[in-house]
Amino acid sequence: MKKQIAVLPGDGIGPEIVQEAIKVLDVVAAKFGHDFNYTYADMGAIAIDKTGEPLPKATLDVSLGSDAVLFGAIGDPKYDNDPNAKVRPEQGLLAIRKALGLFTNIRPVKTFDALLHQSPLKEDRVKGTDFVMYRELTGGIYFGEKKLSADKNTASDLCQYTRGEIERISHLAFAAARKRRNILTLIDKANVLESSRLWRRVVTELHQTEYNDVELRFLFVDNAAMQMILAPNQFDVILTSNLFGDIISDEGSVIGGSIGLLPSASVGEKYALFEPIHGSFPQGAGKGIANPIAMILSAAMMLTHFDMDTEAKAITDAVDLALANGVCTPEVFPEGNYSTSDVGDFIANNIA
Ligand code: IPM
Ligand code: MN
Repeated sequence: MKKQIAVLPGDGIGPEIVQEAIKVLDVVAAKFGHDFNYTYADMGAIAIDKTGEPLPKATLDVSLGSDAVLFGAIGDPKYDNDPNAKVRPEQGLLAIRKALGLFTNIRPVKTFDALLHQSPLKEDRVKGTDFVMYRELTGGIYFGEKKLSADKNTASDLCQYTRGEIERISHLAFAAARKRRNILTLIDKANVLESSRLWRRVVTELHQTEYNDVELRFLFVDNAAMQMILAPNQFDVILTSNLFGDIISDEGSVIGGSIGLLPSASVGEKYALFEPIHGSFPQGAGKGIANPIAMILSAAMMLTHFDMDTEAKAITDAVDLALANGVCTPEVFPEGNYSTSDVGDFIANNIA
């Protein structure tokens, strides 16, 4: 199959980990007879440095013209500590999500047996954890009206959702639950927020009319944050709004022992973007210590999106083998001495 892929390495460790994902994709293409064509473009701080814009039009055009977007990481400390900065790298990511209509962010959280001892939680609690978050990605407080008073002493961000925005992601989340253990947990703050009450109403209606074979549970987000630490293996599919999903997915991401292991997919009606959950880790850039596995698994999610299930499984099997053999970067196996490219080589060679 022929596929056109937009590759946006981004900032910090982004370029290093993207390089490993491409290494792996090239091996998959050769082995399974596919033709992957890559077009590189800039997004984030690197794009601001070159053009003044976090998402240059050329990058958006390349992305709109591709079958999928593979994205590394975004962010640079020189913008983080300046609340007055006019442009920020993160605006590039928010803008591309909006422009491509990527309303659902899918973040699987799975523990690897070989790494259970790495978890900050007790092994018996994390064992068997395997859930997937469906985070709304183009609405809510992230995109609501922002206000700053003239004297700059009062500010607000509107959290607004429409029925349609809730319905379209809910359909995907219910369908995902059906293919898994059939449990959907809606995480919200319906005891306080009107927008959360709308989520509950709409999700309950869909459940009654179309998905009553799925077990539907509700959790307030504060309780959910606690439950994720107490018993993360109780979750199957989690459905939640943009900000709650942002927070809870970082919490979920460390359960398995390293945030460097978890991929994500952002999908809409027409386009899809694949990126690791972690950020740009600027302190680690250029040192060969960045874990490429989350990026490589994001490439695997892209192949699943292309209906290349066997190819995707070849990647996930090779990743499992790497971890089972102690082949990973120092934050996972401090004694191992494997660099970013060593890990990519091991995975690529095992697929070949
Ligand atoms: C994420 C990130 C982004 C978000 C930032 C970089 C804008 O934290 O993908 O979770 O908040 O959505
Ligand atoms: Mn986040």
